[in-house]
Amino acid sequence: MTQDELKVMVGQAALAHVVAGSVVGVGTGSTVNCFIDALAGIRDRIAGAVSSSEQSSERLRARGIAVLDSNAIERIPVYVDGADEIDPQGHMIKGGGAALTREKIVADLADRFVCIADVSKRVAVLGRFPLPVEVIPMATAQIARRFVALGGRPVLRAGVVTDNGCHLIDVHGLAITDPLAMELDINQWPGVVTVGIFARNKASLCLFGTPDGVETVRYQTRPDAP
Ligand code: 5RP
Repeated sequence: MTQDELKVMVGQAALAHVVAGSVVGVGTGSTVNCFIDALAGIRDRIAGAVSSSEQSSERLRARGIAVLDSNAIERIPVYVDGADEIDPQGHMIKGGGAALTREKIVADLADRFVCIADVSKRVAVLGRFPLPVEVIPMATAQIARRFVALGGRPVLRAGVVTDNGCHLIDVHGLAITDPLAMELDINQWPGVVTVGIFARNKASLCLFGTPDGVETVRYQTRPDAP
């Protein structure tokens, strides 16, 4: 099977986790695009979507799915999104599609985070994929220096302005052995909008697309997780 076929497979498999009559949280990326296409088939059975990017909102609307204002939603049962990497505990690196901040916001509204990914995203330790960090433009250089001090190699994502009008830095060469501690630490740096480590609010489960079918892995979530 091709990687695209694996993405279609997990996009369809995620429908089993959608709660009928509810608002669905929708992430961003090529795997989520497959989920949106599958979701269109049951659009009459959901109350609409909360979206994590302009890109996903456009695709949802084009398929007849209402996109609701996140501020009008108190709680949603499920958020479905992809990942750039996921470790054995369900911690993820996200932001390859530049939507990490809104992804964290929508994920925070959800009771469960359903990750959908082809099996190539599964890693023992996060960090081979360059860590995306959304930053306020005037802090870019200082934040880059901080990453160099941590042993990383920060690279400004050229020509990219996020949906929030900010810059993105991709940090190469980090071995993220304690994702929760690193997420909390980097989040404190002045000018950081969002770091693409999803550890505080990690995946509840992941649907991995493998050549043998969909493999479901469930993760233990922290009692104080959102
Ligand atoms: C976007 C993301 C995506 O979920 C991540 O980049 C995976 O994308 P894809 O499904 O295209 O591999 O975090 O900001």
